[in-house]
Amino acid sequence: MDEITELLEKYNQKKLIKFLNILNEEEKRNLEKQIKNINFEQMMELYNATKKQVTFEEKNIEHVEYTDKSKLTKEEKNELDKIGEEIIKNGKYAVVTMAGGQGTRLGHSGPKGTFEINVNSGKKYLFQIIVEALQRANKKYNSNIPWYIMTSRENNKDTVDFLEKHNYFGYDKNSIKLFIQGELPLVDTNGNLVIGKDKKIKEAADGNGGIYEAMAKGHILEDMEKRGIEWIFVGGIDNVLLNIVDPTLVGLIIKENNLIASKSIVKREPKEKAGVFCKVNGKPKVIEYTELPDELAEQVKEDGELVFGELNILSHLYNIKVLKDLAEVKLKYHTAFKKSDYLDENGNYIEVNEPNVYKFEAFIFDAFERYENMSILRVKREDEFAPIKNKEGVDSPETAIKLYNEKFKIGSEL
Ligand code: UD1
Repeated sequence: MDEITELLEKYNQKKLIKFLNILNEEEKRNLEKQIKNINFEQMMELYNATKKQVTFEEKNIEHVEYTDKSKLTKEEKNELDKIGEEIIKNGKYAVVTMAGGQGTRLGHSGPKGTFEINVNSGKKYLFQIIVEALQRANKKYNSNIPWYIMTSRENNKDTVDFLEKHNYFGYDKNSIKLFIQGELPLVDTNGNLVIGKDKKIKEAADGNGGIYEAMAKGHILEDMEKRGIEWIFVGGIDNVLLNIVDPTLVGLIIKENNLIASKSIVKREPKEKAGVFCKVNGKPKVIEYTELPDELAEQVKEDGELVFGELNILSHLYNIKVLKDLAEVKLKYHTAFKKSDYLDENGNYIEVNEPNVYKFEAFIFDAFERYENMSILRVKREDEFAPIKNKEGVDSPETAIKLYNEKFKIGSEL
């Protein structure tokens, strides 16, 4: 028995063994090369975990303390802004956009950042909206903020081609760097790796928690250090009101002597599909909506607000020391059950209508609980949160366009 067959036997990958036999020499070589790079031990551990009931085990869970931006006095806000502005003006601030996801849920084929919306001031791509926010900040603070973009293997080429084609929307190319996040194979309900149309094992981006490892591997941390960056903002691609350069947040993290900060808004209703901040065993944490039990989601404080009502809007700020520490850390993986067409062991293409595979994703915020404390700044939804998640209805292009137009009235935009 050859080495590859032995490996596949050990991990019960009978379908793959059979599939290898119907391939021509070149196809076989390519697939074997991929197989050698897969950590089967890890994959089987992840697969076995899908068989266990996920129970919510957090015991000492409490609501989180936060600073309400709208309740700061003028003096308090000025003080924080002054601290933050110094950092930005002195070139110690960078922005990272996580753009590894595709616009599948939106029905958009291609990287989500290449999705276009039609606002009052014209048509704009999601990437362009971020560039415009950076340009506004650079003008205001006389800065040249470095912009880092995380892509995935799946969308990196399309992203580069798109940004090149649009000349990076006028942003200084020397201030932009892209890096690619990691991937993990998909596994079917029987523990088989899944074969794609290209006769290779199907792999998918390993979740936005892959960012820490990817930044180190992609030499992004080195680049930041070379540029003297100390504070790094990390945000998503799909919130058209994301405030990527906010001196108040920078001032707050420094004043509170923390190394991580994030922003929250008030959760609209217990079932809103977004993560919430809390404290577990005294440590900061975000619990994703898919994992928050209903009875906790519905708990109300004396003042009528939800106990777990500080919604995570994916607007995080880190000190570079944290990113260096986290590069080595393995975060846990969460499981999602997804639909995936595939080739069976005889090479037949099978289209599916129901979820059939497990996808494993790390969540960026699972790193927070490794720290004693973090700063949380509550902001107003209409100021900073207009995400585009769904094709229509809630959190759709329609709702985001409306909110964008309300915030950026023509004339006041730049
Ligand atoms: C995310 C948050 C959720 C928050 C909500 C607010 C996580 C895990 N969840 O949920 O708590 O309330 O935003 O809008 O952070 N991405 C990658 N690579 C990946 C996966 C995602 O770069 O492998 C990027 C996406 O491009 C996007 C961001 O991460 O910019 C959010 O990803 P998504 O999977 O859409 O998370 P949400 O369900 O929106």
